[in-house]
Amino acid sequence: MRLNNDEQAMLDGKQGPAKQKAMELLVKYGEALNAESFVDTNNAHLLVGFLPYPEIVTMRDVDEMVSKFLLDTDEKIIIDRVKAFNTTHIWAIDLERWQVMEAPESLHELMELFRKYCIKTGISITATCTPYQVGNIPTRGEHCAWTESSAVPFCNAVLGARTNTETAHSAFAAALTGKIPLSGLHIDENRLGTRLVNSEIDVNSVMEWTLLGYYAGEVCQLAVPVFKTKFGRIPNIGMFKGLNSAGASSGGIMMYHIIGVTPEAPTMEVAFGGKKPEEVLDYGKAERRQTYENLNSARDEKVDLVNIGCPHYSLEQLRDVARLLDGKKVHASTNLWIWTAHQLKDVADRNGYTDIITGAGGHLLTDSCPLNTNLFPHGTKIVATDSAKQAHYAPAIADVDVWFGTMEECIDCAITGKWQGELKT
Ligand code: F3S
Repeated sequence: MRLNNDEQAMLDGKQGPAKQKAMELLVKYGEALNAESFVDTNNAHLLVGFLPYPEIVTMRDVDEMVSKFLLDTDEKIIIDRVKAFNTTHIWAIDLERWQVMEAPESLHELMELFRKYCIKTGISITATCTPYQVGNIPTRGEHCAWTESSAVPFCNAVLGARTNTETAHSAFAAALTGKIPLSGLHIDENRLGTRLVNSEIDVNSVMEWTLLGYYAGEVCQLAVPVFKTKFGRIPNIGMFKGLNSAGASSGGIMMYHIIGVTPEAPTMEVAFGGKKPEEVLDYGKAERRQTYENLNSARDEKVDLVNIGCPHYSLEQLRDVARLLDGKKVHASTNLWIWTAHQLKDVADRNGYTDIITGAGGHLLTDSCPLNTNLFPHGTKIVATDSAKQAHYAPAIADVDVWFGTMEECIDCAITGKWQGELKT
């Protein structure tokens, strides 16, 4: 790779061991990607409060953990301050309500150590998979280094900013150095559409955008789909989150276009850069039905856990779910967990939504999600959710069967204890 003077100085250790280790990682990464140079970044979304390595159970020195797992060295590197503006992806537990998750005290103590480490090193503790809901809103064209597959398409497709799906290591190295390889979706031509997805379905709800996203992820994998579809309203944040997280679960969609909606697709011509689509895919009633069936693995209508808020619910979704629960009671044999960012819970608290949810017997939880640490309520076998991402991963990760449907069906299930959802025509 071609390095400028600043990058070479970091690599030579002239700006300290932390930047040197980070730059060594980034150079190897850039070479693997065939990148010729770096681009500056001042926006990283980091995976720090949740490191999925068994060894962290016994380690207690965060400097050692970060050196080993994020900088790939056995040498203990002390970091002064990270350079780039950053936010953090989810942590292992709800930092305040961790006992609801039946998390061990030791995990809470570990998170406290990480919290202190973040304050010391200038890492912003947002603890959410939806950084764009809590103040990290990159502007169009801004180069970023984000982890979290559901957030990446929001950054690229919805905001018109630029990121690849980074790992915990590459995002952390980018935060330390302010550099990321110039490759993939940082480059104009790689952002152009390659597949046309023609939808004859009216896509007007979170569930319909989720189904379309799940279908597109399966058939497009890493390609850039261009959606041509009927919709009565411009998708809101909940609909985008449904589309993004579904497409990044069944496939690896990092970028897409919706003609007339997303910023880099005012017309078909612009979305495809004047080229013809490599493939045209039709999404109709049969594809929609099959996608719905694929997401529903449960057969037993009795549900142990209703788990919603994946990706973390928006303020509008919190308002809607509180309205559905107002004056109701969650069934004695069912748990209701609703996930959001803790910053949005603060707004929910002020507006009375939290009181309604907890008064009904549900839990409004933050900072985490049970899928990542496999902390489902003890004995959970059947889960209901409005998230394709949960429905996709939970059966393999948590050995549960899943019902997938709308928020309304999930809340009805929480109240009755039974799944009665169905795909409406
Ligand atoms: Fe967020 Fe967990 Fe879903 S990290 S996107 S709530 S699987």
